[in-house]
Amino acid sequence: MAVTVKSARELALMRDAGKMLAEVHEKLSESIKPGISTLEIDTLGEKLIRSYGCTPNFLNYNGYPASVCVSVNDEVVHGIPRKDRILMEGDIVSLDTGLIYKGYHSDAARTYAVGEISEEAKLLIERTKQSFFEGIKMAVAGNHLYDISNRIDEYISQYGYGIVTDLVGHGIGKKLHEDPQIPNFAQKKRGLKLCAGMTLAVEPMINLGRSDVEWLDDDWTVVTEDGTYSAHYENTIAITPDGEPEILTLL
Ligand code: CO
Repeated sequence: MAVTVKSARELALMRDAGKMLAEVHEKLSESIKPGISTLEIDTLGEKLIRSYGCTPNFLNYNGYPASVCVSVNDEVVHGIPRKDRILMEGDIVSLDTGLIYKGYHSDAARTYAVGEISEEAKLLIERTKQSFFEGIKMAVAGNHLYDISNRIDEYISQYGYGIVTDLVGHGIGKKLHEDPQIPNFAQKKRGLKLCAGMTLAVEPMINLGRSDVEWLDDDWTVVTEDGTYSAHYENTIAITPDGEPEILTLL
C-alpha cells in the first residue's frame, strides 16, 4: 500500500481524533495506582473512548481482545488486560490505546510509574519519551524517513539500552496501520522523502537490557527475553509544510 498524504479536511479530523485520545490518556493516567487491575484500566479506557462518540480501534484488531494494551515491567507491548493482573508499587506500566473518529485513527502510548519506582526505571521511562521527541525533530518535510530512525537510535544508544527491532512505528489515517513502517533503529538507506500531510505513529520501544523480545503463548504479549523492564512512548504526528511536525495526540 502506498503512503497516504492527508488533505486539510482529513488533517482537521485527525487533529480532533488526536485531541480526544490525548484526553483519554490524561484521564487514564489518573487511574494508575497500586491495587488497580489491568482489566480495570482497559474497561475505563473503553468507556472514555466511547464517551467521546469514538470507537476503540484496537478492540478485535486481528483478534486483539481489548481497547487498551496494558504492558507491565518486562512486557514490551500488547499486554492483554486481566482481572487478576494487579499493579504493584515499583511496577512500570505502558498504556497503548487508540480510537477512530469519523473514520480516522489515532494511536498513542505512555509509560507510567506505579507508586515509587527505581531510579533506573525512572530514567528508562524518561529517556524513552525523550527519544520520541529527539526523533521527531527530524520529521520535517524534505528530510527522509530514516532520519527519524537514526536520530532515535543515536539518542538511545548512548545509554546502552536495547532498542526493540521486531516492532516498528507506522503510517496512520483511515487505517490504524498504513505504510510506511518506521523503525526505531539506525538504517543504511534513507527511506522515503517526507512531505506535508503525512501522518505517522512514531513509537520507540526501549529495553533496559538487550533488545531481544519474545512472544508469550497468548500470541500477543511481547516480553523482553532477558526479563528487564521495557518502556514505550508513542504519538501520532503530522508532517507540516515547514518546520517541526504537529503532535496530534498531546493536549
Ligand atoms: Co502504533
